[in-house]
Amino acid sequence: MYYIRKRIRNFLIQRPYLWKYWRKYRVYEKSRRTEKTRYQGKAKERLNGLEYLLERCEGKTVLDIGCSDGLIDLEFSKSGISLIHGIEIETSAVEDARKNFEGLSLNYKFIQGDLALSKSEFEKKYAEFLEEKYDIVLFLAVYHHLKYQMSSKGLQSFVENLFSKVSKWLAIRGNNEDLKKGSPLSIILERQNFKEVHTADRNNPKLGIIKIFERI
Ligand SMILES: C[S@@+](CC[C@H](N)C(=O)[O-])C[C@H]1O[C@@H](n2cnc3c(N)ncnc32)[C@H](O)[C@@H]1O
Repeated sequence: MYYIRKRIRNFLIQRPYLWKYWRKYRVYEKSRRTEKTRYQGKAKERLNGLEYLLERCEGKTVLDIGCSDGLIDLEFSKSGISLIHGIEIETSAVEDARKNFEGLSLNYKFIQGDLALSKSEFEKKYAEFLEEKYDIVLFLAVYHHLKYQMSSKGLQSFVENLFSKVSKWLAIRGNNEDLKKGSPLSIILERQNFKEVHTADRNNPKLGIIKIFERI
């Protein structure tokens, strides 16, 4: 069944003119998701590469874009961050994130929201939720989703705006192609004066690589 779904997905992704069916198919796929199929890889594997930030994040503020059920954020909370904000499209994942944080004394907010918005829509919709800047922004395994939900121009301006909210560190999980020199992401990183300071030592190819960038 998994392979049939994968073939349907690939068929639709390769045909941008079928985007209406692609959107419908995504809704269907989401309805079939369970906690076990929410993302690939074990929690420990998903943290590989983030230890660089976990060791340095005490007292810092964090924004997690596409935060899912907040399990990664929970690790940050154990390491002493002062604030965490998360945005996620799946309602059930947001509810789980809130449950995961229930009773913790740090300042946390998780909201259900769609990131596939233009820069101005994004700023307007989340004006009350977002801080102007965060010490750390997590952008983990979301870029490849947004690529299929937005025009490339819209996506670049969304990313440009998101990165401008980083005051210190930005963590990106993406595939080699998206992060290689000359890619739209790397051009924006360069333009905004980010320097790569860390990358994961082991990489599960299914999960993509984590790279940490620091604003210089
Ligand atoms: C592969 S998961 C990664 C989850 C988490 N960042 C991590 O690394 O463990 C991608 C997440 O992005 C969310 N997502 C995809 N498109 C989105 C959108 N348009 N707006 C908000 N969240 C979105 C998905 O629902 C999913 O939880």
